[in-house]
Amino acid sequence: MQKFKKIAAEKICAATKKIWDYGDLDPTELAGALEYPPDGDMGDVAFPCFRLSKVLRNAPPKIAAALAEEISGDEFSSVTAAGGYLNFKVSSAALLSILSEIEEKGESYGSSGCGSGKTVVFDYSSPNISKPFHIGHLGTTVIGHSLKLLHEFCGYKCVGVNHLGDWGTQNGKQIVAFKRWGNREKVEKEGIDALVELYVKFHEEAEKDPSLNDEARAEFKKLEEHDPENIELWKWFIDVSFKEYEVTYKQLGITFDSYNGESFYSDKMAPQIEKMREMNLLKLDDGASIVDLEEYGMPPCLILKRDGSTLYPTRDIAAAVYRKNTYNFDKCVYVTSSAQSLHFAQWFKVVELMGYDWHGDLVHVPYGTVSIGGAKLATRSGNVVLLKDLFAQSIEKVKGIIEEKSPDLEEKDSVAEAVGVGAIIFKYLFNSRIKDIDFSLDSALSFEGSTGPYAQYTYARTRSILSKAENESFIAEGGDLTASEEEELLRVLSRFPEVIGEALEDYEPSDITRYIIDLCTAFNRFYHNCPIISSDDAEVKSMRLRLTSATSSVLGTALRLICIKTPEKI
Ligand code: ARG
Repeated sequence: MQKFKKIAAEKICAATKKIWDYGDLDPTELAGALEYPPDGDMGDVAFPCFRLSKVLRNAPPKIAAALAEEISGDEFSSVTAAGGYLNFKVSSAALLSILSEIEEKGESYGSSGCGSGKTVVFDYSSPNISKPFHIGHLGTTVIGHSLKLLHEFCGYKCVGVNHLGDWGTQNGKQIVAFKRWGNREKVEKEGIDALVELYVKFHEEAEKDPSLNDEARAEFKKLEEHDPENIELWKWFIDVSFKEYEVTYKQLGITFDSYNGESFYSDKMAPQIEKMREMNLLKLDDGASIVDLEEYGMPPCLILKRDGSTLYPTRDIAAAVYRKNTYNFDKCVYVTSSAQSLHFAQWFKVVELMGYDWHGDLVHVPYGTVSIGGAKLATRSGNVVLLKDLFAQSIEKVKGIIEEKSPDLEEKDSVAEAVGVGAIIFKYLFNSRIKDIDFSLDSALSFEGSTGPYAQYTYARTRSILSKAENESFIAEGGDLTASEEEELLRVLSRFPEVIGEALEDYEPSDITRYIIDLCTAFNRFYHNCPIISSDDAEVKSMRLRLTSATSSVLGTALRLICIKTPEKI
């Protein structure tokens, strides 16, 4: 539809010149002012003429009427004035040009190619070693991956980094807990669950005996000094944790280009700290080194603790410099919960004060917090829903439905996994990312209405229709639009490039998720009202198959962009 906004804007400019001899309008700017009328019957795009009333010294309804009189062209079946609005209805010939465009571009339809030649680093997922991989990580993982796919789709070269939380006092805590209460066989057998149990126990015990916290700091210090026993334990905890993450990443279809976690920067911070010192940015505050940010309305950014050990922001600063030098990124995007917004604002400011001219290319993409049944998640108290358990429950539920409804389905297990995991992702990515969500398992696992299973099922429906046509060796070429449902479907298909553009600009996968529902609704309405394979008119059948094929292609692309798999049969 964007395409038609542009054409309409050009026509408005030309007509304004002709009628009022006013030639100062910019078509691109004007195209941005065009709207979609609330009711499709009024038209496909509308121009609010009050925007010109000042420069043309005329009342909006008069302008609308004069423009409607003047403007014509094949692209629009009607151009009418309604009060101060000028409404354009796109002609079926023009809609058909969209279908040809989809057929021509195939899987790349919707991509503007705007990222060609540019590199973006995505820092996402990044769980903390030895802690549970829980529902709170769903956001960073699926929003981050979806944004990476979206950028790739638009031509960017993307680097996905899993900035593992593998360096910090929590590693000291884990070492203390293991040395005091741990058991090697149990960890070997139960994996990360045993590590989490130890972590929870540490916090329970430290409540009673706070000296355990000093012990943890001391163990971490030893780790930083490369104590062999602690290094061995730490590496082992990483391996054990990773085994679990990998299962989940595989279910989600995610791999990373780099797993350089926080520990990777342990020897890369000193030059940055030195630079801050030379630039007089560091201040001593009760023995700790900080960068004062009061002038910028923020609390100080902590760089070194009293004992000289580094902190989370210190590692982030070193990591940003390393990534700039290694990847020469045009943007480096961090996807985390909004609880970390201040952390990012602070250290982005420090990077700016350090004189790095690329500081403006650092982007924080926050998302809302997740609670469960109203309760906040907390690893320490053990109030968590693990991603693996959530996925397992959903997959189990889908298996039950498949057994009941289509027991003969091939590859039941992989379909159940794709649908079960897809249901959760879809539910999650349906909301604007910044909204806090209260996740209820029941509603996440309800497959009614606007859900992932509904969208995947619609996709499978398009595939099955197309394969039937293929079996008949029917070749779809030509044909004309004969039903309003066909036009409506094309209208929705024509919106895809615009949806991609908006999602990219706002870092908002939910734009795509919502679009998927609009597309499925339009397709299913078409499917129910217009016989496709069974149509006895070859021309009609051809057009309907072409529409099905275009829907299949766009829907498949859209689903994959939000990390959802697309089984051929469900
Ligand atoms: N490990 C952190 C956490 O779980 C997230 C890391 C985000 N990335 C970064 N570069 N700080 O909260």
